[in-house]
Amino acid sequence: MCPFHREDTPSFHVYPDSQNYYCFGCNRGGDIFTFTMEIEGLDFKQTLELLAQRAGVELESETRHEKSHAKDLYDVMNLAAKFFSDTLQNPEGNIAREYAKRRLLTQDDFRNFSLGYSPNSWDSLTRFLKNSGVSEKQILDAGLAIQNQSGGIYDRFRGRLIFPVKDISGRVIAFGGRLIDGDGAKYINSPESQIYTKRRNLYLLNDARNSIRKKSRAILVEGYMDALRLHKSGFQESIASLGTSLTPEQAELLARFSDTCYICYDSDLAGQEATIRGMYILQEHGLAVRVISIPEGKDPDEFLCANEAKDFETLIADSQPLILHHLEFLREKFSTPGQFRNAEKSLLENLSRLRYPEIEPYNTRICAILGVSPDELHDKLREISHSKAKFTPEIQEQDSQIEVGKVEAESEAQDLPDYSRINKIEAGICALLWNFPELRTSLDSQSLIDLLGESEACDLAVAILTYDSAEMNQRWLLTGEVGALSVIAQGENFLREISSELENLEPLEKWQRMKKILEEFRAIQRIQSIREKMLHERASYIDMEDLKKFF
Ligand code: UTP
Ligand code: MN
Repeated sequence: MCPFHREDTPSFHVYPDSQNYYCFGCNRGGDIFTFTMEIEGLDFKQTLELLAQRAGVELESETRHEKSHAKDLYDVMNLAAKFFSDTLQNPEGNIAREYAKRRLLTQDDFRNFSLGYSPNSWDSLTRFLKNSGVSEKQILDAGLAIQNQSGGIYDRFRGRLIFPVKDISGRVIAFGGRLIDGDGAKYINSPESQIYTKRRNLYLLNDARNSIRKKSRAILVEGYMDALRLHKSGFQESIASLGTSLTPEQAELLARFSDTCYICYDSDLAGQEATIRGMYILQEHGLAVRVISIPEGKDPDEFLCANEAKDFETLIADSQPLILHHLEFLREKFSTPGQFRNAEKSLLENLSRLRYPEIEPYNTRICAILGVSPDELHDKLREISHSKAKFTPEIQEQDSQIEVGKVEAESEAQDLPDYSRINKIEAGICALLWNFPELRTSLDSQSLIDLLGESEACDLAVAILTYDSAEMNQRWLLTGEVGALSVIAQGENFLREISSELENLEPLEKWQRMKKILEEFRAIQRIQSIREKMLHERASYIDMEDLKKFF
């Protein structure tokens, strides 16, 4: 059966990206085929024909679609981008060209980065789009206009130098507009829309991704102009984070192309808690994060306007690993008794997201600053991971049992682990750990975290691995925590269901078998979710890359 549409009827799907068509399908027998095709090799029509042939279906002519005048949002964004870039060349765009010149941007840059100008008028773009057959609703949906109280609409971008934001396959999905003169926000940006999600995109990623791969590094900056200037100066591996804190989605995106990320933010920003947390998110996703600092509080654009590319290369070479950057940023706080505890908390909480080998090289320094031994540091980090897990039976020595129960009950009310989201395979793994204490010597919590990662079962499994059953049992009874026990019971049911697969296996082999079952289950889930997205034409480049891995 075809995993994409789950039927035995022939079907195929084509996903164009800037370089390849990804093609998937199945024929009447349910055989699946998949191939990637270079655009140069075949045109779209030929690709379709080949697909149809392999799926064993006849192609219908496209008259139905040709008749339709509905333009989708991508078309609307394209039209707008064209309008902006044309306007930049018109007499109306004089003021913007002069501004661009002052910022050392050339005609080549206008072309390479598709820059534009939004005229200083309330309705130029809106009128242009309407004349091109775009409805008011589409203009609003695209975020290009704003509706006023009386229902009329007016242009969002007025009198600004325009930076188009493209998705990973090069389609325009949003705009940033730089104020040229007068009052107002320095930049305004497109709102999120059906085609634009801030947290999933990075400015210039489409232009940068090949260089990121080739150089095996990305340079992450804050602003449109910073990323653009870096590209102009030969650092095409640069991207900008669109004025928000980094998200796990962006980290995942970057981690697919490189293993190192250099971060070059304004110095005031680089020290902020939220910014540093974002950097740890990158590192958590497998990127080695290094922080570049520019002297005299300049931003990368300002630095490169006053210096040469090789000088920036020197700054890259002088960059600091994230942990050292963080220690340095906290140094002053550590030497102020009143701030010590907060600084310690910030450091430990962030460190506890990392794997031990990433922390290990800095152990001595961290221990010296905190005034603890390596063992104590290890304990502290473990304590944090577990308190996140909510299962730690860290019964404070002097606390009465009633007190512990009370505190727990209160905190649980706000933050109860969601056991209902643990699937039965994950529950089975918890039950396995519960029933085979010998796994505690052969497994470590990292292998559990690797497998269960974000799932709700992870914390429970780590707790079971770390503490003995009697201790856990007592604690759960004490705190009225019955959810965990019911997960284990549910897991035991699942183990019984598949007992024929597990019998005669050593505990460690049982664990490996369960791991395999969970991984297969997830692969199927992932394929199904991509399939869902494909059916709604929402599958991304990454989804398609992922899908290829399964075949
Ligand atoms: P900055 O204020 O550091 O500006 O904002 P910049 O990038 O150096 O801009 P120039 O050089 O003065 O032109 C950094 C980024 O934060 C977002 C933009 O993405 C900007 O590039 N930002 C800033 C906004 O979205 N809105 C604002 O009003 C300011
Ligand atoms: Mn700047």
